[in-house]
Amino acid sequence: MKPVIVAMPGNEPFADALAAEAGVERMPVTVRRFPDGESYVRAEPMMRGRRVSIACTLDRPDDKLVPLLLLAAAVREAGALSVGLVAPYLAYMRQDRSFQPGETVSARHVAAWISPRFDWLVTVDPHLHRIAELSQVYAIASRVVHAGHSVAAWLKAEVPKPLLIGPDEESAQWVGDVASRADAPFVVLRKTRRGDREVEVSVPDVERWRSRTPVLVDDIVSTARTMIAAVGHLRRAGMAPPVCVAVHAVFAQTAFENLREAGAGDIVSCNTITHPTNRISIVPAVAAAVRDLGF
Ligand code: R5P
Repeated sequence: MKPVIVAMPGNEPFADALAAEAGVERMPVTVRRFPDGESYVRAEPMMRGRRVSIACTLDRPDDKLVPLLLLAAAVREAGALSVGLVAPYLAYMRQDRSFQPGETVSARHVAAWISPRFDWLVTVDPHLHRIAELSQVYAIASRVVHAGHSVAAWLKAEVPKPLLIGPDEESAQWVGDVASRADAPFVVLRKTRRGDREVEVSVPDVERWRSRTPVLVDDIVSTARTMIAAVGHLRRAGMAPPVCVAVHAVFAQTAFENLREAGAGDIVSCNTITHPTNRISIVPAVAAAVRDLGF
């Protein structure tokens, strides 16, 4: 019997595309709220004896985690052979260290809630910084899909003579990867974060790249403060409005509008989180990863 993909609310287009790409069956589930705010979930009895994956991207995760964990339990109790999680954006990975007494490493706790309820996890470029590997926190089989190939293919097709720019040292890993795949040069800026919304970016040697199209690439754009600081610097240095590429378009509150107003050029993202900027599909890469896991 064909494996089955189900979608948490909001993940239907991604699940449809993944089902088509991976050649598996889409099945409905019920996920809704009771009037008192508690979650109600129901899995189809037809899942008995099938391998099932749940598509649920985990931006704004606090409202999603409870119904997701309940749905995983319901799918298993309906008789599924296995239950996998396709979470194109994996939440809480930036909370990877306790900076002050009394803080906790939330990434570990969220992983400890998810791991016992799923057999495997596929995600796209999780924020691996102080946690170097998913296996350090997730106790299940996992595959990390790198968006670099898809981003580089888009750049090659759409952007003439790109100069890739990483807004901070943490971005060096994926900017370097994208640049080499796109046969483009890259530079990395230096960032100092002074608070949740206060970011300073150092002056790079951009003069020698003036004939190129600047392309800022980052894994996550959340408040967009990092991108805005980088855009501001590039504009003051006399460069063209940079193309801004995010793997994960989190865009908290007015971040997207703020980035546009700061002088960004085209703003483009991968479809790990549904957003009007989604122009780079990572579905084929995710389908390859779920196949690799034997789904
Ligand atoms: C840094 O740790 C990440 O790679 C991103 O640069 C960061 O998450 C972006 O956050 P924000 O958009 O809030 O500046």
